[in-house]
Amino acid sequence: MNDEPIAPAGAHPESDFTDRLRAEALALVGDLRASLDEAVGRVDDRPALPHEPDAALRDLAEALPDTGVGARAALERLLQLQERAGANTAGPRCYHFVIGGNTPAAHGADLVAAAFDVITYTWVVSPVGVRMELQALAWLKTLLGIPSGMQGVMVTGATMANFVGLASARQWWGEQHGIDVSAVGMAGQPQIPVLTSGYVHAATLKVLSLLGVGRDNVREFRADDRGRLDLPAFEAALESLEGAPALVVINAGEVNAGDFDPVGAMMDAARRHNCWVHVDGAFGLFAAVSPRTAHLVAGMERADSITVDGHKWLNVPYDSGYAFVRDHGLMARAFRYSADYLPAEDDPRPTLGAIGPESSRRGRSFAVWATLKAYGRDGHRRLVEHCLDVAQHFSGLVDAHPELERMAEVPLNIVAFRYNPGGLAEERLDALNAALGRAMIEDGRFLLGTSRLGARTIFRPAFSNWRTRFGDVEALVDTLVKLGRRQS
Ligand SMILES: Cc1ncc(COP(=O)(O)O)c(C=O)c1O
Repeated sequence: MNDEPIAPAGAHPESDFTDRLRAEALALVGDLRASLDEAVGRVDDRPALPHEPDAALRDLAEALPDTGVGARAALERLLQLQERAGANTAGPRCYHFVIGGNTPAAHGADLVAAAFDVITYTWVVSPVGVRMELQALAWLKTLLGIPSGMQGVMVTGATMANFVGLASARQWWGEQHGIDVSAVGMAGQPQIPVLTSGYVHAATLKVLSLLGVGRDNVREFRADDRGRLDLPAFEAALESLEGAPALVVINAGEVNAGDFDPVGAMMDAARRHNCWVHVDGAFGLFAAVSPRTAHLVAGMERADSITVDGHKWLNVPYDSGYAFVRDHGLMARAFRYSADYLPAEDDPRPTLGAIGPESSRRGRSFAVWATLKAYGRDGHRRLVEHCLDVAQHFSGLVDAHPELERMAEVPLNIVAFRYNPGGLAEERLDALNAALGRAMIEDGRFLLGTSRLGARTIFRPAFSNWRTRFGDVEALVDTLVKLGRRQS
């Protein structure tokens, strides 16, 4: 490498505009410092949701400015908008969906990745980003008990991790039928059998629709209205395939009560037949991190592909998810990406953009590596167990309160419950809880949503942020009951 200076600074002034950008770039960190200190310092205190975001957003739909206001003014405006109209999703009181927090190391590393505009498509554009991705994925395999031989790749989240797993599965299925689906497509091929339980996540259905399977062709074997697996019916359906290749999706962590498919039993059944087994463990795979919950995912290590999310329970910033596939060659064939100006397919240096859906990719590895380096296996076990403790504490508060009713066991980090002051018919209770859900959003101190468990309307707070304290969930009970009484 030649270390000589490349161009003498200022020898050929080019334009006022690029001079202005250079000056702004030099001032950028100083300009942002106070605002970021304030933003990070107040995460615990801000409400979950902004008050009257519409008022703040009213003039956002303006015409494209001719000359622009410059970086400082634009960023000031942006920070005001975030303060007045952004949810505090890094904060301790957001329990809707499954929202994770940020560890400080991960947060800092993401800022560094943005500062350097890191690209992790292939080795030459970021030797460190690419190696760090492989290293961080190896650490994740150790942390989660995923076999070391599985090939990982970082993607935007669990939806795309499911896409990687199931696109690899589709490639396998095609090869079983003697075709290369990535080359010839699916036209004229038989329907791919996909078998799962009623716990299947909407993201898996979305992915299967994109892959040409069709969301309506997924067979869900339901034992009850919650969607638990009907194992005998599932086994009978496998039997009836008579050796034809099929895809099985095991749901390790469903969103309404944090329940699991019987991973070991499903795996045993699938392995007796000609199946590709995909495990969606977006947040549930973190059960493996604690000896208290590891039994919930025992057997997942026999999967062909596994999905894990990072922006949920690893507590790295959005967006970040990971796919692991046993047969590296299938990923390479499913996501083949080559051209004369791109790295050769047999280049021994890794091109991560050729084994997953994205070609150009941001430096997600920085945050994952940094949090695992900073806190290690022990720190991440403590993070997971802290959330398990918060869920159990909240569950105990629900059980102790005469106006709250727990609706399911709490195997992991989600508590299914409802407001039930007594004496109301089921339909009336459903309407009351739906109205209470709207009132909670309106109130804004917590981000909490409703769902359905079988036919019933429930709340299902998911605890997956290190910042959430026992005091936060005690306050949630108070707020919810007060608002519930007003709705009744
Ligand atoms: C089990 C499961 N799979 C997939 C997803 C989709 O994840 P993402 O939004 O990260 O794509 C989720 C999100 O909650 C999930 O819980």
